[in-house]
Amino acid sequence: MGDDAYKRGSVKEFNLNWKDREERLYNHWAAAAPKNQIQFAFKNHWEVFQEILGLLTGGHFLEVGCGRGTLSSFFADAGFSTTMLDTSMEVLKVAQNIFHHNGHRADYVQGDANNLPFKDERFDVIGSIGLLEHFEDVGPLLAEQWRILKPGGWLLNYIVPERPDNCQRWFNWVNALLKLFAAAWSKKSGAVVAKEPIYRNDFDSSVYVKALEPMSIKQIFVSGMYPVPMVSHSPEFPFTLLPSTLERILVSIFGAVVRIRGTFTGRNGWLCDEGWGQAFLVAVQK
Ligand SMILES: C[S@@+](CC[C@H](N)C(=O)[O-])C[C@H]1O[C@@H](n2cnc3c(N)ncnc32)[C@H](O)[C@@H]1O
Repeated sequence: MGDDAYKRGSVKEFNLNWKDREERLYNHWAAAAPKNQIQFAFKNHWEVFQEILGLLTGGHFLEVGCGRGTLSSFFADAGFSTTMLDTSMEVLKVAQNIFHHNGHRADYVQGDANNLPFKDERFDVIGSIGLLEHFEDVGPLLAEQWRILKPGGWLLNYIVPERPDNCQRWFNWVNALLKLFAAAWSKKSGAVVAKEPIYRNDFDSSVYVKALEPMSIKQIFVSGMYPVPMVSHSPEFPFTLLPSTLERILVSIFGAVVRIRGTFTGRNGWLCDEGWGQAFLVAVQK
């Protein structure tokens, strides 16, 4: 795939971004209680996905743009036969190491989300976390996912748009302070290195819903997700972790916030208004 063909979602950009990062070795899947904010976030995503899937268990799951494959870890652990696809071999090796470490198994496929190398109606569930926002034209990606989804199956696309006005904005000053400390520290240790940011679109869910209009959809569920901030000194995504005690304290605080939200809203406390959440979910049943 030439980068010109897909001006955004560039593989070269992603490879450079992942290469030599300390964070690429972090394992964001946790069988037990989450120990840091990223594990906490993924655990909450998984709980929402499980509620949507209901009794659907043990089918074929595909993660598109798998990165380190954290979402796939949850599906593999729940007994789904799991396939992970990414354009980057570099990334697939990272995912493979993490899966090996966790005792999970999966098939690893190098391929392009615009042109998925699978036959029609192959998978029961197809998911992505932080993939679609990296493209200017999301229609072809959704059409490809739809093509290889079995009737009755679900697409779960978790999207992290470029939004300056979500709940994170109230905490930017905290992160700015942390970055100042980290920058001073890194002069001594060389620990925090900013890389080129990767393109992200600022589309809201209506763009994805519109792109799905030509498909005959059985059910659609759209909601904001991730109603708490990410507190981090990292200059970019994926976020570098804070000292472990601080991460654990933040997880307990945010855990309480999510539980209280759930009590008041009467639904999963990880769901929220799209404008407030750090991300949103577009879940569609075929
Ligand atoms: C933000 S990362 C996703 C991270 C992942 N959810 C995780 O938990 O680690 C986006 C991933 O999409 C991959 N990617 C980018 N363009 C792609 C394409 N056209 N087809 C498939 N994967 C792609 C990148 O290599 C990268 O691993």
